[in-house]
This record gives sequence, C-alpha cells and structure tokens, in this order.
Amino acid sequence: MKYFPLSLFLTSFAWSHPHQSDCRCRPHQSCWPSPQDWNALNRSVDGNLVGVRPVADVCHSERESEACESVLALSTNSTWRAAQPGAVQWRNWESWPERDEYCYIEALDKPCGQGRVSLYSTIATSAADIQKSVLFAKEHNLRLAIKNSGHCFLGRSTAPESLQIQTSGMKEISFVDDFRPKGAPKGGSEGPAVTIAAGVALQELYAALGKKSRIAVAGAAHTVGAAGGYIQGGGHSFLGPWKGMASDNALQFTVVTANGGLVVANEYQNRDLFWALRGGGGGTFGIVVDVTIRTFDEAPVIMSNLNISTPSEHPDFWDAITEFHAYLPALSDAGGAGYYRIFPDLPLPDQNTTVSGLILGLVFPDQTDIARVDRLFEPLLTKLNAISAVTTEYGSMPLPDIRTLISGVLIPSNADITGGITLVGSRMYSRDLFEKEPAKLSAVLRQIRMGPYESFTGHIVSGGAVANNHIDSALHPAWRGSLLHLTFGRGWETETSAAEQDAIRNNLTNVEVELLRSVEGSDKMGAYLNEANAYEKDFQSSFWGDNYNRLYKIKQKWDPTGLFITRSGVGSEDWDTEGLCRCWENWIEPWERGADILMWDDVM
Ligand SMILES: Cc1cc2nc3c(=O)[nH]c(=O)nc-3n(C[C@H](O)[C@H](O)[C@H](O)COP(=O)(O)OP(=O)(O)OC[C@H]3O[C@@H](n4cnc5c(N)ncnc54)[C@H](O)[C@@H]3O)c2cc1C
Ligand SMILES: *[C@@H]1O[C@H](CO)[C@@H](O)[C@H](O)[C@H]1NC(C)=O
Ligand SMILES: *[C@@H]1O[C@H](CO)[C@@H](O)[C@H](O)[C@H]1NC(C)=O
Ligand SMILES: *[C@@H]1O[C@H](CO)[C@@H](O)[C@H](O)[C@H]1NC(C)=O
Ligand SMILES: *[C@@H]1O[C@H](CO)[C@@H](O)[C@H](O)[C@H]1NC(C)=O
Ligand SMILES: *[C@@H]1O[C@H](CO)[C@@H](O)[C@H](O)[C@H]1NC(C)=O
Repeated sequence: MKYFPLSLFLTSFAWSHPHQSDCRCRPHQSCWPSPQDWNALNRSVDGNLVGVRPVADVCHSERESEACESVLALSTNSTWRAAQPGAVQWRNWESWPERDEYCYIEALDKPCGQGRVSLYSTIATSAADIQKSVLFAKEHNLRLAIKNSGHCFLGRSTAPESLQIQTSGMKEISFVDDFRPKGAPKGGSEGPAVTIAAGVALQELYAALGKKSRIAVAGAAHTVGAAGGYIQGGGHSFLGPWKGMASDNALQFTVVTANGGLVVANEYQNRDLFWALRGGGGGTFGIVVDVTIRTFDEAPVIMSNLNISTPSEHPDFWDAITEFHAYLPALSDAGGAGYYRIFPDLPLPDQNTTVSGLILGLVFPDQTDIARVDRLFEPLLTKLNAISAVTTEYGSMPLPDIRTLISGVLIPSNADITGGITLVGSRMYSRDLFEKEPAKLSAVLRQIRMGPYESFTGHIVSGGAVANNHIDSALHPAWRGSLLHLTFGRGWETETSAAEQDAIRNNLTNVEVELLRSVEGSDKMGAYLNEANAYEKDFQSSFWGDNYNRLYKIKQKWDPTGLFITRSGVGSEDWDTEGLCRCWENWIEPWERGADILMWDDVM
C-alpha cells in the first residue's frame, strides 16, 4: 500500500475536473481505435471479435432473404437472443429513443438505427479474452458493456457506442464434493459445491444438477444467467425460504478487474469484493468469470395451487386479496414459497365472462405430508369462502423431487418467450405489513390501472432461511425482513412515439411506483435491483439501503475510473444516464460522502 498525502490527492482532483476526457471516446473522434487497433484486439482474442449490428438489420437490408426469415422465426426465442451480440431480451433496450434510433422488424420502412446496441463484441471464451478486452477498453477510453443473457429489465446489458463483452458462451460446469475456498485453512471446507462459468443459464445449471441428483438455489427462468446479473444482484428463488438467497450460497468468485487483473474473491481473500459481489449488482465491480455455489441433496416437494376469483371488478375481490395477504406469514412459517398473480381484469373467453382472479402456486421443499399442507390452507379457505362473491379452488400434490418440479412445472419446454417491450415497477413488503395492516396493500393495488390480462406478480421468495441467514453481504438488508417482492410491467408498441413512451415512463416512475412505495413509507423497504423500475428514484437507498456508502467506496477502490458503469448501478450517479460522460452536477466529492481517503491509495 502506498500512502498519498491528502494534499496531493486533492490536487489530482483539481486538474481532473471537466474537460474532454470526461467523456468516453466515441466513433468519428480521433481517439477512436483505428482498424489496425481493432485487428490487434481481434488477434489477441483469437478472432472472437465481431462488428455488431442490431439483429433486425438483415431484414431492413433485404426482407426476402433467408437471414431475415430466420430472424423473424427466432425473434421471441430467448436462447437465440442470449447468444446474439446484436440483441437483448427486451427490445426497448436495443433502441435509443432520445436519438430516434430503432431497428424493429415491424418497421422496415425506417432505416435501421444502431440504438444502444454495441458496435463491437468480444464473444468471450476464456478469462484471457475478457482481460484483453477490458485492457483495450481502458486504453482507448471506451464505453464497455457486459452482456450475458441480456435479460436485464433495467437495460444494464446494452450501452450505446460501446465495446461489448459477451459472456453467454462460457458454459463450463464442474462439481466438487468438498469445496475449499482459495486461501482457506485446512478444515475450512464448505461441503459439496458446483463451479459455473459466466455464461451458464439457469436451465443448463438445473440440468447438470439433475444428473447428479443435487440441487442449488437459483431462479425460475430458462435462459437467465446463473453467474451474471442474477446472483450478483442477490438472486431470489422458490428455494430461498428453504436455503437462503442465491448470493447467500456463493462461496467464491473468479473476477477480471478494471485493471485487467484476474483475482479470486471469497471469505479469505479480497473480502470487500466478495462482499460487494453478493448483492451489489452485476456489471459494476468486475467481470465474473465463474462462481462457486453450494449444492444440496435432492428432496421431495409438495406443490399447492389456490385460485381465488370474483365477478369482474367486484369490491369483494380486494377483501379476498387482503385475507390472502394476511395469511402470508402463516404460509411462510410452514415453509411455503412460490409465486402468485393478481388479475383484476381476467377475460375467460371459453366461459364468455370476465373475472378478477388470483392464481397461487406454492411449493414446500423437503415436505411429504399432504394432510399437513391441506390443514394449513383450511383456515384461509374458510375465511375466503365466507366472502359472498368469492369462489375458491384448491389442490395440493406431492412430487418425488425438486428437479421434477423444475422441469415439469416451473420451467417446462426449452426457452423463455422474450423479445417484448417492457419496464417494471416493484416493491418489497415486510412481514410486519402483513401481520398488522394487510388492507393497506390492497387499497393501493386497486388504484393501479390493470387492463385485460394484465397482472401483478407476487414473489414469495423470502422469509424462512432468507430471514434467518445472518450473512454480511451487500444484499439490501430489507430482504431479511420482507415476505413479498411484488412486480408489474408496463409496455408499449414498436410504433409508439417517443413522447408517448416518455409519458408511460413518467407515470410509472412518478405515479405508479410512488403508489407502491407509499404502502410502507418511502424508506422502509426498497426494491429488488434486478426487477425494478429502470428510472427508480433514489435508487441508491431503494436498492441497497444502508449498504450503499460502503458499496460506493468499494467501487472506487476496484474501479476508480468507472470502466464498469450500469444504469442505476453503484457509482452510476457520477455519469449521465448512458454512461457516456461524467456528470459533474451530481458529483459529490469523496470526502463529503465520508469515504475513507486511504482506500483510494492502490487506486492512484
Ligand atoms: C424471464 C425472467 C425471469 C427471471 N426470474 C428471476 C428469478 O427467479 N429470480 C431473480 O432473482 N431474478 C429473476 N429475473 C431477473 C434476473 O435476475 C435479472 O434480469 C438478471 O440481471 C439477469 O442476469 P443475466 O446475467 O442473465 O442478464 P444480463 O442482462 O446479461 O446482465 C445483467 C447485468 O449483469 C451484468 N453481468 C452479466 N454477466 C456478468 C458477469 N459475468 N460479470 C459481471 N457482470 C455481469 C450485466 O452487465 C448487466 O449489468 C428474471 C428475469 C427474467 C427476464
Ligand atoms: C476477427 O477475426 C476473425 C477471424 O480471423 C474474422 O472472421 C472476423 O471478421 C474478425 N473480426 C473483425 C471485427 O474484424
Ligand atoms: C430457440 O433457439 C435455439 C438456439 O438458436 C434452438 O436450439 C431452439 O430449438 C429454439 N427453440 C425454439 C422453440 O424454436
Ligand atoms: C356471450 O355473452 C354475450 C353477452 O352476455 C352474449 O350476447 C353472447 O351471445 C355470448 N356468447 C356466447 C358464445 O355465449
Ligand atoms: C386454477 O386455475 C388454473 C388456470 O385456470 C387451472 O389450470 C387450475 O387447474 C386451477 N386450480 C385448481 C385447483 O382448480
Ligand atoms: C398513471 O397511472 C395511474 C395508476 O395506474 C392511472 O390511473 C393513470 O391513468 C395513469 N396516467 C396516465 C396519464 O397514464
């Protein structure tokens, strides 16, 4: 460690204030890498560099081509989107409405704009490919984007005029019976674990686990990445109440850092980075090459389904929702976890009618006593059936193991359907709320407009082990006291004007998310950083609560120049919304934030 006197530190800031190099180098500027430079990068990554255009470009250049037919056929296939450097899963993040740049297959009369799609991509196959690309971006002052599956709802995997590092092709999976973190003393082994490379998708992880009769905490989707944004953002799961958050079960990360180095972070070395990577968010502290997570013995599971309905828009519907929410603590205490959707306006075309409905799927891992689960639901069913307009349906069944639940029920078939346009609004809610004032949530939800088939999604993924794991990590502390993470989406059409898109975004941000926030007061709970509004106000406290200042300091230590910047990520307030230029209006001097000056040493 070198110790710089404070005065020198201050001077270096004085001359680094606003000038040209406060922006990323952009195409057509003299600083932009020459063709020879790009070729040199390409050679250094074994020819894995590609020039990138939006995937729909081939249809704009030639509608009647085989290439275009193939894009049209695959457009909603998430496996395909994950592997395309010119696509992400939510097409709104491929476009750049502020610049009127879109490349939609529905609008072939308009030229194909590059939008937020990167200009070059390294299709990484190794840590070395990632290191070379990071050093290149650093040397040429380029905007860097890290794309894995491209599922991010907040657009963190695209950035305009950038070099992309695409990690989704890195698929190695290896099991170990007794994992000893690097640097751990003898006897410091952690038991069975699996190491997954950056690009492994959830369904690929589950398939590998299934072959070994093992299970691990991961999410409910096919193509979301297991090692990327998911686990670095905390990672919730239907297995969370049983075994904790995904990030609670991370034992070690291998990471490419902003200076091009390759480090191992765990409980024994680079502990600050290990702390930050468990909940601090993807794309911010380094590029994860692989992560090692705990595995558990397979277990039987009980699956329950409850449907609640009333005639459409009947006021009794919201009383039923209140009864249901009031019962969440009891369901949670019995080991229940899962998901439900609330449809205020659900047309049932085959019955020629519209209802308001709730559909719940709850799982009880490592349980076999069906009668016990039936008894658990009885008091709730009694209360619901006492409400005059309410109809209920309930059933439970045992499954032999969790992998059957996953492949047969939770994520059957082989790909998520994506390619839509969507923004998310969300909030976490505390156990306290459901014990004391469950009606407050219903009163707010009924004020949010839901058209036909539109719904709120409730994630019952905390409580149980999530509440009881006292693990010190960057995960928002609110997770430990929450019982529900609630989301809903807002979308638009490809032809929707920029002004109308703005109106939808503004209403989401200033009206709808504020309504969700008002249920428990602005600072009490916060939101899950991976499934939240891309324009979240006060995102620092919403996503990280009291952990933010520490995260900001760790960010400055590991990435002092802000090479890794993502929308509403740690440190992103120092940049404009696209991460292209430093944003000095928002700049708060580090000492005013109370940052520890000494932490900046190895930075300079
Ligand atoms: C259909 C669907 C289902 C979902 N289900 C769940 C769920 O059950 N539980 C849950 O918690 N979340 C869920 N999510 C949210 C999911 O966790 C986030 O979308 C997450 O960001 C996806 O990570 P990714 O790496 O696959 O995506 P990307 O969009 O590729 O990456 C997301 C962020 O992580 C960064 N990143 C990616 N790879 C790396 C890496 N190797 N190193 C450093 N940074 C990296 C990117 O730069 C970006 O900032 C779901 C999302 C969808 C669309
Ligand atoms: C990189 O090299 C490969 C193999 O030589 C080549 O196919 C590819 O087009 C090159 N990429 C760029 C951006 O020139
Ligand atoms: C989706 O795309 C993948 C990869 O391109 C392919 O293997 C798979 O069969 C496709 N799935 C469907 C349902 O078309
Ligand atoms: C559906 O309901 C409407 C109005 O109640 C009625 O006019 C119509 O005939 C019904 N259609 C069918 C197929 O039952
Ligand atoms: C609940 O509704 C769904 C969707 O209509 C249906 O598939 C399921 O069978 C219903 N559950 C019960 C227990 O009847
Ligand atoms: C804003 O959102 C509220 C709540 O969903 C809705 O009632 C209202 O119509 C929306 N306003 C606009 C202009 O979309």
